[in-house]
Amino acid sequence: MSQAAEAAYRTITVKPQPSGFGAEIGGVDLAKPLPAGQLAEVKAAWARHSVLAFPDQPLSLHELEAFTLEIGPYGVDPFVAPMPGHPNVLEVRRDPNETLTPFGGAWHSDWSFQATPPAATILRSEVIPPVGGDTLFVDAAAAYEALDEATKAKLAPLKAVHSATRAYGPRSGYAKELDQRSMPIIVSADADKTFAHPLVRTHPVTGRKALFVSPVYTIGIEGMTPAEADPILAGLYKHMVQDRFIYRHKWRVGMVLMWDNRCTMHNAEGGYDGHLRVMHRTTVAGETPA
Ligand code: OGA
Ligand code: MN
Repeated sequence: MSQAAEAAYRTITVKPQPSGFGAEIGGVDLAKPLPAGQLAEVKAAWARHSVLAFPDQPLSLHELEAFTLEIGPYGVDPFVAPMPGHPNVLEVRRDPNETLTPFGGAWHSDWSFQATPPAATILRSEVIPPVGGDTLFVDAAAAYEALDEATKAKLAPLKAVHSATRAYGPRSGYAKELDQRSMPIIVSADADKTFAHPLVRTHPVTGRKALFVSPVYTIGIEGMTPAEADPILAGLYKHMVQDRFIYRHKWRVGMVLMWDNRCTMHNAEGGYDGHLRVMHRTTVAGETPA
């Protein structure tokens, strides 16, 4: 965005990452209802930068819930029990003695196996380890735009098949490790259901196209055998996770992060064995991918 356009924000400060993907937002107090003009500017910055970090926002759970509802109605969070008394908040927690992959520790877009996956995920840091614990994001719109025209044409009619089976199904990794995790994961045969979405989806606000696949939740391409689909998907993942498309988010305590699941994927990196990490998380409902 040009400097002139950046200066067009009147009620918040917006400090974009050098690539323009990801931005830090200041001049706002998320603990109070946002005035309409300020909320509109936050939403505009979110549409432009996809991942917004709000430092120094040590919200209570109630304030986190209220801010979430200003962005939109809650999404539906399966496979993890909510916090007691807070049916729409998950605690993303890893205790110092845990050694398994962190929750979210592989590339994914949240709950993309749902008919209407969440538009936003909002994560607020409560306890941050002294080392590691970054969250990585891929700009799936920039990754799409960087494809050559022949590849774009080949992908245009395809539908990717999404499922939670690898993550939360009875034969998943979590199913074998439940007793070694502090998070209340709910393994269920429901996770084996599948749902097809356009492999390239168009963002309902910006109109930008983005790749909508991930190694965790995409299990195939409609009408293709695994032998046909797997190399296509593997090629896309290799393309998407190039450094030029990645924003590495470094946490501080009391930070709110809001990302757009419609045009990004993310990965909780880990690297903090022996330390506690606690986050609180909500989702905002999305629309049918198209
Ligand atoms: C999530 C997630 C990443 C992290 O909450 O959906 O993937 O770094 N979290 O905790
Ligand atoms: Mn996630």
